[in-house]
Amino acid sequence: MSADCPTIRFTVNGQDVAVETLPMKRLLDVLREDLHLTGTKEGCGEGECGSCSVRMNGELVNSCLVPVLQAEGACIQTVEGLAINGELHPLQKAFLQCGGAQCGICTPGMLMAATQLLAINPHPSLPEIREGLAGNLCRCTGFTRIFESVIAAAAAETHNLLDQADHAR
Ligand code: FES
Ligand code: FES
Repeated sequence: MSADCPTIRFTVNGQDVAVETLPMKRLLDVLREDLHLTGTKEGCGEGECGSCSVRMNGELVNSCLVPVLQAEGACIQTVEGLAINGELHPLQKAFLQCGGAQCGICTPGMLMAATQLLAINPHPSLPEIREGLAGNLCRCTGFTRIFESVIAAAAAETHNLLDQADHAR
């Protein structure tokens, strides 16, 4: 470990990682360049578009604004952490089915913002979805399909839970 590049330790998608890097390097760049998790995208690089959104300790953050030093000891979730054992997350399926993903630059950030929203509010109304995704910009879809995707994912999750309850009887 050099004085300029300390080792920063945190977890990403449940895996412990240790990165020797400049402490002010952006979390976005550490994810993409050091950890090769290129699902997180850069749009504006200024905290305005939400493309680089990841979850950090259960909060949504713009990873272009987070120096990696601030991630020391944190739990980070990126879009790569949504699928489990190769099975897409209900939000990912819904984005595919409803046309919520087009060019895809905004999509990982949208997915993370929607994940955050559904984590705190599993049945959001349309105004709540608008508000939950207000920090994420999309130039392709006009937002309607994205909002429909979130509604579909919330409904699918409810359906899954009901199914599981049925099987548990
Ligand atoms: S790239 Fe981070 S908010 Fe736009
Ligand atoms: S799908 Fe292109 S910016 Fe959203």
